Amino acid sequence: MKISTTATLSILALATTCQSWSTPHTTAFKTRSSSVVSRSTALFSAVEESAAATYADPSRYLSDHPNNNVPPHIAALVGKGLHTKPDHPIGIIRKKIQEYFASLPQDYIIYDAEDPIVTTQQCFDALRINPDHPGRSPSDTYYISDTTLLRTHTSAHQSEHLRSGADCFLCAGDVYRRDEIDSSHYPAFHQLEGVRLFPEDEMKGADGLKGEEWTASPECKAIGEDLKSTLEGLMDTLFGETEKRWSEDYFPFTTPSYELEIMYQGEWLEVLGCGVVHEEVLDMADRGDRRGWAFGLGLERLCMILFEIPDIRLFWTEDERFHSQFKAGSITKFNSYSKYPPVYKDIAFWIPEGFVENDFFEMARGIAGDIVERMELIDEFTNPKKGKTSKCYRITYRSMDRSLTNEEVDALQDELRDSAGEDLGVEVR
Ligand code: PHE
Repeated sequence: MKISTTATLSILALATTCQSWSTPHTTAFKTRSSSVVSRSTALFSAVEESAAATYADPSRYLSDHPNNNVPPHIAALVGKGLHTKPDHPIGIIRKKIQEYFASLPQDYIIYDAEDPIVTTQQCFDALRINPDHPGRSPSDTYYISDTTLLRTHTSAHQSEHLRSGADCFLCAGDVYRRDEIDSSHYPAFHQLEGVRLFPEDEMKGADGLKGEEWTASPECKAIGEDLKSTLEGLMDTLFGETEKRWSEDYFPFTTPSYELEIMYQGEWLEVLGCGVVHEEVLDMADRGDRRGWAFGLGLERLCMILFEIPDIRLFWTEDERFHSQFKAGSITKFNSYSKYPPVYKDIAFWIPEGFVENDFFEMARGIAGDIVERMELIDEFTNPKKGKTSKCYRITYRSMDRSLTNEEVDALQDELRDSAGEDLGVEVR
């Protein structure tokens, strides 16, 4: 069995503080002896939950640093550890994916308890994501300070694991992005990252090749083929024999890059991004002598398809009517408990220069929480005389657990109108 260095350190640390915590929270699952399996199973959830619990501390994410843009309702989501819960759809899928990789000839190290706070270096620079890349801007990313943030993707951990000497690994966790609001977008979601470096002797022919010479080499092509067949195998395991299509994509940290779509109920759905790891990323992690591939997939997306879960907010609910439907190891169809009626409210305002839509979306979730189901721009026009632009948004309020009264929604909408006027500088019409 292979254990990551950080896991080994944490076993030691935990062993000195608590006798019963003697299992690593990140552990390889390949080539386990049966005695190791039973020991880790017995202590699995205790340790994993304790690891997640250390991150469930809003004060870690809320600071008075001038660049901190993490609202309390986001800070409250961190550390829930849904991907480590055996009976939660996200945990069930993560386990299935791990089992698939355990059936392959390589030993994949499993990481699932890294700190969701990462540096701009880890999340961006180490991955060739330049300072002017839109994904780095505070309108898209939750910053804790000017150099620390809530990770926007699990790729943020690639370089530290590569540097520590890991050749093949999977890394799952919660990630955070400021985004639009609808049934498939939520500011917190889960990703699973996979990386495989190839044995040096298989890559000898490409020694020293860079740029186009490298990407045109048979070795680079072989990595791309292995990546595609590995991921196609994963999709067949999850979805059964299914129609798939590959297209070219672009990520600063992989080249060539691809996306995979699968046909599901008559529609093409993008399920993952991947590619051959860029040689500069490997160089920066002191692994420039090696070559390999990486992929990142969204766990909510897969779960929504496989379990037929219609709304992404459900993953975060504490309602027993949701949780009682899922059991470790089985993919079953979700039976929607009664859908409560929506309440629609429109708000129109003149926007100031530099208006950021995500600030407005976030303000609504801050005020009304998860009962904001959807926010859509339904009208926009510019008055040439005034030189001003007006936007009108329709907000769908709906609780997943109960009926809303008109009065409570009116009160929330009034608060939103006031706050938007005061804090975003819009002129409500
Ligand atoms: N990190 C990318 C994303 O979040 C996915 C990805 C991972 C792409 C690894 C290529 C390699 O979209």
